[in-house]
Amino acid sequence: MKTKVLEILEQNRQESVSGSKIASKLQITRSAVWKTIEALRREGYQIEAVTNRGYRLCSDTGHVSAAGIFSALHTEVFGRQLHVEPCVDSTNAVAKQAAQQGAGHGDVVAAREQTGGRGRRNRTFFSPKDVGLYMSVVLRPECSAEQGIHLTTWAAVVVARAVELLTGLPVEIKWINDLYVQGKKICGILTEASMDLELHQLEYAVVGIGINVSTLPDQFPEELQGKAASLKMLLGEESPPSLNRLAAAILDEMERSWPDCFSNSVMEEYRRRSFLIGKEIAWWNKDHWQRVLVEDIKPDGSLAVITPQGMQRLYSGDIRLPWLEDG
Ligand code: BTN
Repeated sequence: MKTKVLEILEQNRQESVSGSKIASKLQITRSAVWKTIEALRREGYQIEAVTNRGYRLCSDTGHVSAAGIFSALHTEVFGRQLHVEPCVDSTNAVAKQAAQQGAGHGDVVAAREQTGGRGRRNRTFFSPKDVGLYMSVVLRPECSAEQGIHLTTWAAVVVARAVELLTGLPVEIKWINDLYVQGKKICGILTEASMDLELHQLEYAVVGIGINVSTLPDQFPEELQGKAASLKMLLGEESPPSLNRLAAAILDEMERSWPDCFSNSVMEEYRRRSFLIGKEIAWWNKDHWQRVLVEDIKPDGSLAVITPQGMQRLYSGDIRLPWLEDG
């Protein structure tokens, strides 16, 4: 019943809906409506009651919150178990701990701020308070270690679609899982997994998503200046989506596209969005940087590069884009 009432309030965000209208739509009494509204308020939803008019879901509070995400969420599984913390070291670390203690497929940990946001290859991820979305999702697919790479490509495609849907900005992917708009990094994704070595299967994976949403240019540390951007910087006059709407749109898209996670269609979209194909990049080859030409991204997610020694497949590793002054 709470979900149904919430849906009605969500559909009528701009106006109040009377208790009797909700009651007749759901064929319940007005007192049952009132009780349900009270239960929703106890869960943290801000619902305004206006005399003679009815109930209205208050607009987004600006910072990421469980109530804010729920009010924009249309899923059955993804994000239905949701923990939003004021400040953590890393939502990936918290989600991994939760997964070890049994957290289920689609469970989410988000935070307003991270003090030790983690990036790939032991880098840090700049995670200041309330200006970015920092969210980790637990996944429990039945797949082998080799198939695990598809979780990363799928997550990149999902986030690209959600950002594009809410902003209209064209989102490109830098292998393996950085998202770029107009040559600037707006999002990093860190996928971490735990293996069942006996079964040679993935036990669980945690997909951590960090998006610069309303960071101002001079807030970025020096080493990111000119390389990273926020949606707000790229949108100019237009406001960026709220953190809650963005989180909900990503979770909605995750649920919608989960059945295709290991399919060719996701991989094709990943290739289409990838801006490395045909470009010269620098690749960290064991102990030195080497210039290589990217020939393709293969169906197994590897980067096919042409080196002076011949063709190589890269499955992970550090790459730089000299033409983008990328770090
Ligand atoms: C990268 O740029 O190399 C990946 C960055 C991933 C950042 C996100 S923010 C939410 C989650 N928690 C973390 O500590 N990292 C990921």
